[in-house]
Amino acid sequence: MKKEFPENFLWGGAIAANQCEGAYQEGGKGLSIADVLPSGKDRLELLTKGKGIPEIDTEKYRYPNHEGIDFYHRYPEDIKLFAEMGFKCLRFSVNWSRIFPRGDEIEPNEAGLAFYDKVIETLLEYHIEPVLTISHYEMPLHLAKEYGGWKNRQLIDFFGRYCEVLFHRYRKQVKYWITFNEINSAFMIPYMSLGCFIPTPEDRDKVLFQGLHHQFVASSRAVKRCHEIIPGSQVGCMILCAPVYPYSCDPQDVWKAHQEERLMNYFCADVQVRGAYPSYGLRYMAERGVEPKTESADLETMAKYPVDYLSFSYYMSRTEKADQGDVSAVTGNIIGGVKNPHLAHSEWGWEIDPLGLRILLNRLYDRYRVPLFIVENGLGAQDTVVGDGSIHDDYRIAYLRDHLAAARDALDDGVDLIGYTSWGCIDLVSASTGEYRKRYGFIYVDKQDDGTGTLERKKKDSFYWYQNVIATQGRNLTD
Ligand code: BG6
Repeated sequence: MKKEFPENFLWGGAIAANQCEGAYQEGGKGLSIADVLPSGKDRLELLTKGKGIPEIDTEKYRYPNHEGIDFYHRYPEDIKLFAEMGFKCLRFSVNWSRIFPRGDEIEPNEAGLAFYDKVIETLLEYHIEPVLTISHYEMPLHLAKEYGGWKNRQLIDFFGRYCEVLFHRYRKQVKYWITFNEINSAFMIPYMSLGCFIPTPEDRDKVLFQGLHHQFVASSRAVKRCHEIIPGSQVGCMILCAPVYPYSCDPQDVWKAHQEERLMNYFCADVQVRGAYPSYGLRYMAERGVEPKTESADLETMAKYPVDYLSFSYYMSRTEKADQGDVSAVTGNIIGGVKNPHLAHSEWGWEIDPLGLRILLNRLYDRYRVPLFIVENGLGAQDTVVGDGSIHDDYRIAYLRDHLAAARDALDDGVDLIGYTSWGCIDLVSASTGEYRKRYGFIYVDKQDDGTGTLERKKKDSFYWYQNVIATQGRNLTD
């Protein structure tokens, strides 16, 4: 029997400040780590290897994050369009460097807060619930440059001050909070996730586990303060999830997949939901001599203040093989693994696997038994505007329809799924490539990679499709 999505299901979309706002120097904003990332092939190298903090070089590179899609000035029009689709919630992030331009100030920047006051007021006027991500790949550049990012313990206090400001300011308006976007992406993109770069490959694990430890403590402290300041608030962790499959039933492949799954998908959630480092994680760190330095109250804080819900992004699954010699590796994304012969992939090499979402939801719920929230999912694809100005993105509709059907199946399986926010509900700058042409939106934005474009918004076919999905509570998905 197929269930409808629940009555109070949080339907919506997701965006991040650094990828949509633009206005990178307005309203007293400081530079963030995203502002120095160019588009083009050097970007991925910087994100994954993080050899050093780049300087802005406009002679050599383009910086699409500087303009984004100008959400900073156009948010009233954009939120109106979200409301027209029937959004019940919007997941967005606050750009830390608008509130604390350098990150280590005592007093916040009032102009930065005033901007988010207006965004949140507009959402509430349309009865759209704000789901606020506190840190989404946009920490102040100064903290990365002068303090070395999250490997420095002082960041816990700077983040705490920032959270304190947000919790007090939005205590009446915001119930749903997310501390760190894709916290486990530290393993893949340390620069973006931790603001750290890795001096030598040997230092990698040491830096990552230390940085993560500080984020775990900071997140638990945020949970504590959020609950104290905003009774009834819900604070979630956010994990980049790709369920891992063994390439074959060879126990070596199964073991390899199991190990990858635990470290990449579960390690951070085990700490943040269950409140303690898992035994396999302790062993992994001990064997490599990379246990983080801790202070006496850290473990107690982590145990006492776990998150209320687990939110995650899902774009693809991942396949692992013990001996990779005879199969091709996946290319084009940061997740890795080997090619799965049963799956098609996007133009950017991301394998498309709707059933993987049902598998993931079941695995997560079996393990954690807390509410789950899909806060990112979608297809990055190039769109064509045809003569009459319409955009027929049936490929996107097919992707989203199949994933939503899988989510509905998981609800039938008994999973407590509270919401779904499609990634990049309006086209924005890609995080991994810095491109505009990698579009996820229901709303097209006229902006091209060569810098041209009017920024005009247009409704794609998927806009009307999603509007109908929400209006019918997903009843007619597969009809
Ligand atoms: C997630 C991030 O990893 O994936 C987003 O939280 C990002 O910031 C999204 O944009 C899609 O990735 P990309 O590289 O296609 O923009």
